[in-house]
Amino acid sequence: MLTSSGPLRVVVLISGTGTLLQALLDASTDERFGAVVVAVGSDRDGIPGLERAKRAGVPTFVHPLAGDRGGWDRALTVRVAGFEPDLVISAGFLKLVGPAFLASYGGRMINTHPALLPSFPGMHGPAEALAYGVKVSGATVFLVDAGVDTGVIIDQEPVRVADGDTAESLHERIKVVERDLLVRTVHRLATLDWRVEERRFRWLPAAGQPKPVKAGLSESHRKRSYRQV
Ligand code: GRF
Repeated sequence: MLTSSGPLRVVVLISGTGTLLQALLDASTDERFGAVVVAVGSDRDGIPGLERAKRAGVPTFVHPLAGDRGGWDRALTVRVAGFEPDLVISAGFLKLVGPAFLASYGGRMINTHPALLPSFPGMHGPAEALAYGVKVSGATVFLVDAGVDTGVIIDQEPVRVADGDTAESLHERIKVVERDLLVRTVHRLATLDWRVEERRFRWLPAAGQPKPVKAGLSESHRKRSYRQV
């Protein structure tokens, strides 16, 4: 597990609208979620996602790419480390992190992608899936490694392509399941053990069964397990 005591401390990195971030912020208002967003970082200022964080009272920082990439990566590592996260989430963050960041957060950084990896990695997943003519696409949550969307897949959720879809309409439908998938995955990371065998991510001990709700919650909470996520 990524933490042995208390809620999982999460830093979320974003670059845009921040609807994935909003789903995490909403989920973390329920302590049974098991995770709390302790900071939100962006590579650009003036985006709606930063406003969402501020409205939720979560500290934010802006870390634009300037100068050499290695220096940017090392400085980002230091900034994120200041919030002592157990988990870093790239939620629509349009930058690749580098070796310094992965040395600190490899194995505890996840990303979400609007296609069924390994198909259609990169910046234009929905448009490329549509252009290829697939009938099913979807969302993928994976552990970040040094490649572009190449990390170990944690979970995926399918979305059917509709005849009249545009890249935008397909992406919007994918984002609906992507938000749920991300929230579900973070809850599991906060409450379950897991391991990676070769490229296969496995929840332990049983297939994705949430652990009993922690002692200390009210009896009604304990009887009612956290919604199946
Ligand atoms: C998501 O589909 C993410 O996978 C992609 O960009 C979108 C971010 O959406 N990289 P939002 O900014 O969270 O609304």
